[in-house]
Amino acid sequence: MFRRIALIATVAVGSVVAVAQAQEQTDPNVVARQSLMRLNAYNIGVLGSMAQGRMEYDAARASAAATSLYHLSLVDQSRMWPPGSDTSSIENTRALPALWDNMDDVMMRGMALRTAAEDMMNAAGTDLASLQGAIGALGASCGGCHRAYRQPD
Ligand code: HEC
Repeated sequence: MFRRIALIATVAVGSVVAVAQAQEQTDPNVVARQSLMRLNAYNIGVLGSMAQGRMEYDAARASAAATSLYHLSLVDQSRMWPPGSDTSSIENTRALPALWDNMDDVMMRGMALRTAAEDMMNAAGTDLASLQGAIGALGASCGGCHRAYRQPD
């Protein structure tokens, strides 16, 4: 508590840059969706590394990552994207306002990820060639949604 008060005091007299760095996302809904995305990245990272030969293919590890991704695609996100949590309304989000104007498309993209993750779950443990055959669609399901609805870095 005291540390937080001290931090606020520091920020109050600090530069704009210091303010930006000290702020953290505190809305639990936004924290949850960003955390879910990080878990997506954590798991697809294993599959992508194996597909590109940067990590040795390991059937069990590939299968575990793909199964995790599939289950992450089943997580209930209904409270994670409340209206008013876009880039023009709050700090520390990259979710563009367009996302809320195109919910049907967003849902379809979420389903596309689920399908691609399921295909990967069926392929990843078979052999490296099967994993490589499934990585393109999976990566595209992430990238397509990001291009449409995530603010570039
Ligand atoms: C249906 C749309 C959609 C799909 C599918 C999707 N993302 Fe995202 N992703 C977003 C949006 C929107 C954000 C910005 C969220 C925010 O900042 O509040 C985001 C943010 C992220 C972030 C940054 C998280 C952070 O810490 O701020 C990562 C990493 C990420 N996504 C990875 C992935 C990966 C990997 C996949 C596929 C396995 C994926 N995403 C699929 C929409 C999507």
